Amino acid sequence: VLSGGFFGERFARIAEGCGREVIRVEVPPGRAVELDELAHALDGPPVDAVAVVHSETSTGALADLAALARMIRARSDALLLVDAVTSIGALPVETDAWGLDFVFTGTQKALAAPPGLALGVASDRFLERAARMPARGWYFDLLKYDQVARTASPMQTPALSLMYALECQLSRIERAGGVEARWAHHRELFGIMERWVAGRPGVELLAPEGRRSWAVSALTLPVGVSVPQTLRQMRERGWLLTGGLDELAQKVVRVGHMGDVEAGAMSSMLEDLGALV
Ligand SMILES: Cc1ncc(COP(=O)(O)O)c(C=O)c1O
Repeated sequence: VLSGGFFGERFARIAEGCGREVIRVEVPPGRAVELDELAHALDGPPVDAVAVVHSETSTGALADLAALARMIRARSDALLLVDAVTSIGALPVETDAWGLDFVFTGTQKALAAPPGLALGVASDRFLERAARMPARGWYFDLLKYDQVARTASPMQTPALSLMYALECQLSRIERAGGVEARWAHHRELFGIMERWVAGRPGVELLAPEGRRSWAVSALTLPVGVSVPQTLRQMRERGWLLTGGLDELAQKVVRVGHMGDVEAGAMSSMLEDLGALV
């Protein structure tokens, strides 16, 4: 598991919870695992799969997924499993072109539909590998999912109300120019954030340039400015921002600019934040 924060570690624990032996390739919060670090790990014991969080929501770091995937394909037959919970809908994720084997997301993040549905897509390689696994369970047996998807006969009672909500939201996205237009919108929102940070001494984005998610930003504040107090003051002004997770709890303010956030709201929020920091 390539991990640079809370959700990377969560991925590792999920795999351990499923009885898998896990090797962690860890970088400090804010960084994403880079190619040299992946190469070093691939030189170690052989692995069945590499798991990575594309957009690490706890730090705002974005992994260079296409490059990681290319290296894994070139050097091993390990599958690549991708947590794209805060990247699908906010920035490019090319499941087939990049050769990703399993990619999953939730409807409640960048797609801005109600919570409750998880979406996933599996490669043929992944299904072939699954077919060789003796104990796949029942509820998450992807071979069964594949079969029922082909016959449109669900395995369990589907959460129809949530599916209608998702259909409605996907139609809205389509009418607004499709997923590419949504990516461009989030690039623009993130540009507003980047320019604001550049003009504000003492405020920094935790993730380095070139590795920043368009969906979420983690900001460090000037010395002497308290994160909990800033969050409280922002809440009084009507903005719900959040702090860091675990070791970053008192250290960063996180701003979600995924979903249906508009540029005007982003600018107003930053104006209010600017008055505090
Ligand atoms: C990157 C990432 N992975 C996983 C999750 C967990 O999603 P859920 O709460 O739907 O299980 C989150 C939620 O914030 C996330 O941001």
